[in-house]
Amino acid sequence: MALRQIRIYGDEKLAKACRPVQYVSPRTKLLIRDMLDTMYEANGVGLAAPQVGILKQIVVIDIGDAGEENTEDANTKPGIGCGDGPLVMINPEILETSGEQTGQEGCLSLPGQAGMVTRPEYVKVKAFDENMKEFVVEGRGLLARAICHECDHLQGIMYVEKVEGDLFEVTDEEEE
Ligand code: NI
Repeated sequence: MALRQIRIYGDEKLAKACRPVQYVSPRTKLLIRDMLDTMYEANGVGLAAPQVGILKQIVVIDIGDAGEENTEDANTKPGIGCGDGPLVMINPEILETSGEQTGQEGCLSLPGQAGMVTRPEYVKVKAFDENMKEFVVEGRGLLARAICHECDHLQGIMYVEKVEGDLFEVTDEEEE
């Protein structure tokens, strides 16, 4: 297990747009493994490559058991990123969004804080897996929120830019 240092809000890497991945090298695979280790160690539900200082379009998400809410719709694909292993997305592209949800959001790059953010209730996203095979995944609720939050990181956007009201302090909350 290898942990990487998580960049904290204010770090310039967190404000930059990331480059698409052209091919997955052994080094890229190692980065993904390390991102997963780092996310789990920090009890996060998502992590984007720029958060560990790498300006590449890679995100990892694992919302754990909270993903059960995603199994209600027959069109969703439960399992991926929801309680049955992580969702790894390379060059993710949001194809569709609908609805709205307003809820608490946090970020591993801003530990101990959270804020209220409005996100789509549903997203459909296209991405590539570790073998550069294209796939489409749909998410609702927390998964939709996590996907939007992590994709924003790839554009250099932190949730604090979208927060409604003030940030507040949290202790041991689930952070994205
Ligand atoms: Ni974040």
